[in-house]
Amino acid sequence: MSSPSARLWPYIHRHRRDVVRGLTCALVATAISLISPWILKHAVDDLEQGVTAGKLRLYAALMLGVALVGGVFRFLMRRIVIGVSRVIEYDLRNDFFLHLERWALADFQRHRTGDLMSRATNDLSAVRMMVGPAVMYAVTTVFLFVVALALMFSLSVKLTLVALIPLPLVSLSVKRFGDAIHRRFEQIQDQLANISAIVQEALTGVRVVRAYRQEASELARFRQANDEYVARNRRLVQLQGFFYPSLAFFLGVASLLVLWIGSREVIADRLSIGEFVAFTSYLAMLSWPMMAFGWVTNLLQRGMASWKRMLEILDTAPSVTDADAKPLAPGFALRGAIEFSGLTFGYNAQPVLEDISFRVEPGQTVAVVGPTGSGKSTLVQLVARVHDPPRGTVFVDDVDVRELPLSLLRGAIGFVPQEPFLFSDTLAANIALGADQGADAWEERIRWAASVARLDKDVAEFPHAYDSLVGERGITLSGGQKQRTAIARAVMVDPRILVLDDALSAVDTYTEEEILQRLRGVRRQRTALVVSHRVSTVRDADLILVLDRGRIVERGTHNDLVARGGAYAELYRKQLLEEELASS
Ligand SMILES: Nc1ncnc2c1ncn2[C@@H]1O[C@H](COP(=O)(O)OP(=O)(O)O)[C@@H](O)[C@H]1O
Ligand SMILES: [Mg+2]
Repeated sequence: MSSPSARLWPYIHRHRRDVVRGLTCALVATAISLISPWILKHAVDDLEQGVTAGKLRLYAALMLGVALVGGVFRFLMRRIVIGVSRVIEYDLRNDFFLHLERWALADFQRHRTGDLMSRATNDLSAVRMMVGPAVMYAVTTVFLFVVALALMFSLSVKLTLVALIPLPLVSLSVKRFGDAIHRRFEQIQDQLANISAIVQEALTGVRVVRAYRQEASELARFRQANDEYVARNRRLVQLQGFFYPSLAFFLGVASLLVLWIGSREVIADRLSIGEFVAFTSYLAMLSWPMMAFGWVTNLLQRGMASWKRMLEILDTAPSVTDADAKPLAPGFALRGAIEFSGLTFGYNAQPVLEDISFRVEPGQTVAVVGPTGSGKSTLVQLVARVHDPPRGTVFVDDVDVRELPLSLLRGAIGFVPQEPFLFSDTLAANIALGADQGADAWEERIRWAASVARLDKDVAEFPHAYDSLVGERGITLSGGQKQRTAIARAVMVDPRILVLDDALSAVDTYTEEEILQRLRGVRRQRTALVVSHRVSTVRDADLILVLDRGRIVERGTHNDLVARGGAYAELYRKQLLEEELASS
């Protein structure tokens, strides 16, 4: 892996023309600012020969002209360089988000959302400060420093050497403080990410916080993190509080020496007053680069620290990719046969599924039942490669799923997860999420999908029907309504494979029966994987798998399993009893 700065280079290189233009303006602006003391020198020496109004006007006009032209270039420099830094920030932000979009579920489980958000905002802005203002000031500072020094040498070698006496101390303190500032800034960014994560969790989980009256403890948790953030900032400020005054002190010492020795030079007539004036104004100009030097190193170090934090994310390759994908014949479409062959799978060392083998033909329905934690969700997720199964264990149409391009595989699957997620958008947009936008008879399809999911009854009562906003800033749907929206979404994409992971758990049995009836019509041409804890949902399946602690303990049709008198028959008996009790 190349160095962090090398990783940033392509982003800068892409805008090299603007970068060159901007930095040229910076050099020109700095060069022009160096002219003023020279004019001053001539003015002072010339005026000694006799002051006239004409001379005064001339020198004043010259100084004004130089300041104006310098101002124009300074304006251009800022506009171009800061503008480029914004564009680079834009590119980086897009790439960062794009990278996250490719991540698999497992990758997100290793990072808190708030932490990721902090890297995408706070750290990114520190990186921008580095590629924009910091680079701009670094260039002008170094240039100003070198040229001013050369001019000072040309005026008086002796005085210049005197002025440089404190310089080693300056670089020493920049080095010493710079490293510490870098470390402390990294700690601050970490803590900022931590705060973001705490806020994000508290806001997302606001219902739980309220229900369990955790406001005080959440507040305490936040306050503690916030205190820590302030403490870390204080530690940084403490350093900076030493750093800047110490630079100013070294400069003061230099000025003092120059005044002392310089005035003697003037008295001894080895230096004209004009030269002395010019010399001191160059020295004053040097004080800015020395201060800026500290500030710029600070920005560069902050930027680097933040860029490394962003790279940590950018270098985490998605754990599920198309790396093993085989090229497919043009027009290849999945039919929907699913096969598991001796699959053993675990998230960590511990296997969650063991020795799973079964086969579903296109159009058939397989149901999976079993207690919570027996691995049902894991099993159906492996078909869509939410996690990657081991090679040679899960096949769709007799092709290892790892060899199928993700977009093809997932495009063929309508997945209704156990916990549906709705976006802050209209109901119609949520239903049509994965479908080709604006296809023929678009709205009709949405209505049809909603009616299959038996959502149509509810929609009639929403304020703006299908245009009602749902999610964070819209109406709040009940658990069952959310589940049915998710089913409509899955039906909408016209999937070859329909996966329902306990997708009807929050729907009453009567509505469930209606939905199943309608889905059966849809399901006839599709393969379905149905997870449920209700016998009523699975009894019509072509094959029922009973999972227990990751193993298939029974398999067969409803009638087979009832006749066997095992775990399934027991479950069935219990549920019949419950139904009788409920209806009596
Ligand atoms: N993303 C995950 N990371 C680590 N462990 C997981 C993950 N998802 C599920 N598990 C574990 O795998 C086991 C099976 O879970 P799951 O497949 O959700 O079962 P079910 O859907 O039957 O309730 C559980 O012990 C659960 O803790
Ligand atoms: Mg589950």
